[in-house]
Amino acid sequence: MMRNIFVAGATGKTGQALIRALLGPAAGSDGGWHISALTRNASSPAAKRLTESYPSNLTVVEGNLDDRESIIKIFENAKNEGGIWGVFCVLAYPGMGADASGEELQGKNLADVSLQYGVETFVYSSAMRMGPKYEETLERSHKAKRNIENHCKELGEKGLNWTILHPGFFLENFDGLIGSIGVAVLKNGLKPETDIAFVASEDIGNVAAGVFASPEKYKDKVLAVVCECCTMRQLEDAHQRATGKPIPAVPASFAWIITRISKATQSLLAHIELNYNTRISGEYPSVTEEIGLANQAYKMKGCYEWFKLEKEGTLTEQKNWNQLSIGKLFTGR
Ligand SMILES: NC(=O)c1ccc[n+]([C@@H]2O[C@H](COP(=O)([O-])OP(=O)(O)OC[C@H]3O[C@@H](n4cnc5c(N)ncnc54)[C@H](OP(=O)(O)O)[C@@H]3O)[C@@H](O)[C@H]2O)c1
Repeated sequence: MMRNIFVAGATGKTGQALIRALLGPAAGSDGGWHISALTRNASSPAAKRLTESYPSNLTVVEGNLDDRESIIKIFENAKNEGGIWGVFCVLAYPGMGADASGEELQGKNLADVSLQYGVETFVYSSAMRMGPKYEETLERSHKAKRNIENHCKELGEKGLNWTILHPGFFLENFDGLIGSIGVAVLKNGLKPETDIAFVASEDIGNVAAGVFASPEKYKDKVLAVVCECCTMRQLEDAHQRATGKPIPAVPASFAWIITRISKATQSLLAHIELNYNTRISGEYPSVTEEIGLANQAYKMKGCYEWFKLEKEGTLTEQKNWNQLSIGKLFTGR
C-alpha cells in the first residue's frame, strides 16, 4: 500500500533531506511512499526542483501553515487518493531573538489537523534541549517548540501517534559568510572544553525516514538527533583532516564585537554551555538513550565524514541554504 506523507518544510533543508531519504536513489525504487510536499509557492525554484526530481511519487501542494483552512483543504483533497498517512512537521525558524508565537500556532494547528484526519504517524522535528530541569526556563522559539511538543503529547491521549526529534546544532550553520561568523563566535565565546551536539540536516531526514519506516518502534518517543558531540577545537581538527583546510572563520575581533552587541548571540552561547553542562553532569539523564534511539533509526555520520563528503562534492545540499544576511539573522526576518 502506498503511504502518503505530508511534509511541511518540504523545500527547506530538513524536509528535502527526508524526501531524498524516502524517494532518492539510496531508498531503492519502490519504498511505497508518496509525498505531499507543502510550500507557500508552488512556482518557486525550490518547489519546481522537487516536482522535476520526483515526477511520479511527489505532489507539490500549496498552503500556508499560518492559514489552517489552507492545510485542511490539502488534507480534504488527499482523501480522494487514500488520505494522508503520515505527517512530518518542521517549522521555519522565526529568527534569533524573534517572537515565536506564530511558530507555536503553526505546529499546534498542524498537529490538530493531523488528529482530525486520522494521520497514523506524526513526526515533529523540534530542537535539542537541556533536560527536564530547564523546561520552564525556555524562551521564544525553544518555548514554542516545548509547547508544541506538549500539545502533541496531549493529543496522544486522544489517539495521535507522535514521535519527536530533537536535532542538535546543524553543521550547515557553518556555511557561507554567516557560517564563518558563527565559527568565530563559537570558538571565542565558548569555554574550550564545551562540546556541541552536532548534526547534519541530511541525517535528520535519514532519521525521520527510519521513524516512518518503523513507526511502532518510535511511537511516543523523543529522539535526540545528534551525530557527534565535539568542541570547536575538535571540529576544526576534523575539518582540517577531511579537507586539508581550516574551517573558514572571520577574525576573532569581529566575533567579539558581535557577541558584545547581540543579546541573541549571548543567549545562543549560554544555551550551548547549558546543554553541555547538563549532558555531562547527569541533569539530562535520558540524553544517551535518546541519542541511541536516533542512531537506531539511522546510523548517523560523524563531523569528519560530513566534511569529507562536502569536499568530494557528493552532498546534494545547496550552498547558501539559509539565505540569511547579518540583518536577517538578528531581526528574525
Ligand atoms: N539550525 C540549527 O542549528 C537548528 C538546530 C535544531 C533545530 N533547528 C530548527 O530547524 C527548523 C528549521 O528547519 P530547516 O532548517 O530545515 O528549515 P528551512 O530550511 O529554513 O526551511 C523552512 C521551510 O519552511 C517553509 N515555510 C516557512 N513559512 C511557512 C508557512 N507559513 N507555511 C508553510 N511553510 C512555510 C518553507 O517553505 P516555502 O518557502 O517553500 O513555503 C521552507 O520549506 C527550525 O524550527 C529550527 O529552530 C535548527
